[in-house]
Parts: sequence; structure tokens; C-alpha cells
Amino acid sequence: MDITVELGERTYPILIRHNILPKIGEILEGLNLNPKIAVITNPTVGKLYSKIVLEALEKASFDPCLIQIPDGETAKSLEVCHLVYKELLNHKLERDSALIALGGGVVGDLAGFVAATYLRGVPYIQVPTTLLAQVDSSVGGKVAVNLPEGKNLIGAFYQPKMVIIDTDVLKTLPKREFNSGIAEVVKYGVIKDESLFKYLSNHESLIKTLDHDVLSYIVKTSCKIKAEIVSRDERDAKGIRMILNYGHTIGHAIEGASNYERYLHGEAVSIGMVCASQIAIKKGYLLKEDLDRQKQLLSSFNLPIRFSSDISIDKIMEVMEYDKKSNIGKIRFILPKRIGCVIIENNVSRDLVHEVLNGQRE
Ligand SMILES: NC(=O)c1ccc[n+]([C@@H]2O[C@H](COP(=O)([O-])OP(=O)(O)OC[C@H]3O[C@@H](n4cnc5c(N)ncnc54)[C@H](O)[C@@H]3O)[C@@H](O)[C@H]2O)c1
Ligand SMILES: [Zn+2]
Repeated sequence: MDITVELGERTYPILIRHNILPKIGEILEGLNLNPKIAVITNPTVGKLYSKIVLEALEKASFDPCLIQIPDGETAKSLEVCHLVYKELLNHKLERDSALIALGGGVVGDLAGFVAATYLRGVPYIQVPTTLLAQVDSSVGGKVAVNLPEGKNLIGAFYQPKMVIIDTDVLKTLPKREFNSGIAEVVKYGVIKDESLFKYLSNHESLIKTLDHDVLSYIVKTSCKIKAEIVSRDERDAKGIRMILNYGHTIGHAIEGASNYERYLHGEAVSIGMVCASQIAIKKGYLLKEDLDRQKQLLSSFNLPIRFSSDISIDKIMEVMEYDKKSNIGKIRFILPKRIGCVIIENNVSRDLVHEVLNGQRE
């Protein structure tokens, strides 16, 4: 059930098990870390899982300290980093002391950024607790915090030493957050793996009841796809990693145009995938039936496929042109040719995007 992210001397494993949290101490014993270790989490996740993790670490002779950051995207700030640095200093964490990121993407991105910068870099371990973090943000080494000027503007590529995924923690995750993570799994199916896409369609009810084997399969398959793409393009410099942005050009713009309040990330990506597929149909790349398959699958997980009429199309267009993924004058899109295969299209006209957005408004 293990996956390896192959990156030369930065290679690391992703362990996917159920009920693995109580064993985290013995797993980390093999990594040659300083016994002093920090667990970074937030109050929501901390209340549920920090005791298990701290006890497991103590049992393996670690000397853990718990650092809590506030829950929510606004915690991904330099101010919160400063508070964490101070706590690390107070607890006298040294260069070979590790940080454990126990939480969703917010905790993972911030703890990873702190690990990249504290004492010029200390080891860190990702223990993702949302589906989105398990299949996406904990793998690949993109770490970042936000500025008031924009999201993820301050960051680094800094790989963890290990990713430890316990699929059991998804039992406490709010349904809406779970479904938002499913959008990223659907994305992997569309960009690379038609059999994953079919698996999702055929196992809808077992996924919803959080069946162990089914969850392990979808998390593992998603991580495998991300790991392979990251191995070939660690720093997002060769255009290979770009295909992970399927659904994200319009998705990010919808999030931005609604001040990150209306939709969860995966919900915005769900709308973005439908829009990108509409563009692909209009360009003659994709058959309508492959758009319908996506719409049906996304809707079955209560994911939106149209955006609210309160959000102005002009605002979405404006945010999109600011987005770092677009070139001036033309907008770059990842477009599906069929389920399991996408292409990078650099030349999608504003008019076509506008037309498609018009059609996907509620
Ligand atoms: N680094 C990357 O490559 C990458 C990729 C995608 C997204 N991200 C980042 O990830 C962040 C979003 O992550 P997210 O969707 O995981 O959101 P999140 O971290 O805010 O978690 C969502 C909510 O679920 C709660 N939660 C987490 N685990 C839980 C559990 N097991 N049980 C109950 N509640 C739980 C959290 O406290 C929070 O309230 C964004 O900041 C985004 O920029 C990063
Ligand atoms: Zn995403």
C-alpha cells in the first residue's frame, strides 16, 4: 500500500493505512530524528487526534510538544508563522528536530513553510487529515502562506521526509469537506486514469460510507498519479505538473471572485472542470458524452457544476487574467480530449471563456 515519491536524495514514502496514527512513533523511529519533536495542528483536529499522536510519540521515546494554530485559511499567514517560530524556539527545537503537520492543507502548507525556513530548514512529516490533503496538498512539497495581496505568494518547494495517511480520520471530516476532496480525485481520473474515473462511478455508495478498501484505493491511486507527476517535474518548471491544474484556471478565479467565501476549493474546481470541458467541446477536442459523465459523477457527490448568479462574470475574467498561470491576452487551459487524457492549450480566447461562463451560470 506504500508509494514512493522518487526525487533522488529527497525521495520519500507515502504510507496509506487505516488506524496508522497509534503507530506513528514506531514509524518515525527509523528516521534518525532528534527526540524533541513538534506536532503542529489546529484546535478542531487537535481535539480529535493530538492525544493519540502524542501518546504514540511518547511511547517511542520522543519528547513531543503540541503547537496549535487557528482553524481556517486566514491562519496561513506570516503572523501565525512567527508565533510558531517562537514556540519552536521556546521548546528548543534543533536542526534535526522534526515538525509533524497534523491537519488539512492549511496546517500542512503552513507547517511545511515553517519547516523550510526555521533554522534554514528542519525535517517535517505530513499527516494529512482531510481528503484534499491526503490526495493532493501533502504530496509534492509545495509549501506556502498567504499575503493580504494574494494566496500562496510566499512559499518554497520543500519535500517532507514522509507522508503518513490514516484513512480512518476521514470519518470525522464534515461531508462537504469530504466531497470537496472527491473533486480532486475526479480530476486525477480525467487527467490520467480512466479506470479511476470508472471506479469512482461504480463505487459511489461505498465511497460515501467510507469503506476502508475503497477509500484506500482512491487515495492510493490519486497519490500515485501525483507522485509520478511530481517526480518528473518537482519544481513545476517543465510543464508536466501543469496538468494538475485541470479545472483550476476557472476554479481559482471563481474562488477569488467570491472572496473565497462561497465555495470550498474542490467545489470551485468542480465548476472549473465542467467549464474547461465545455471549452474542449467547443474546440472540437471532447465529446459531449464525456462532459456528461463528469457532470453526473460530480453531481452524485453534491458538487456544484454551475456557479451562482451573484458572481459577476467580469470579475471572474478579471481574476483569471491576474492569475499567475495565464499569459497576457490569452488564457491557458488544461483541456480534456477524453476521460484519462488532457492537453495544454495556450490559446483560449477571452470570448470563448466568456461564452462558456455565461452558459454555466445558475
Ligand atoms: N501545497 C499544495 O500542493 C496544495 C494543494 C492544494 C491545496 N492546498 C492548500 O490547502 C488548503 C486547503 O486545505 P483543506 O481543504 O484540507 O482545508 P483545511 O485545512 O482548512 O481543512 C478543512 C476543515 O476541516 C477540518 N478538519 C481537518 N481534518 C479533519 C478531520 N479529520 N476531522 C474533522 N475535521 C477536520 C479543519 O480543521 C478545517 O476546518 C488551502 O490553503 C490550499 O491553498 C495546497
Ligand atoms: Zn486543487
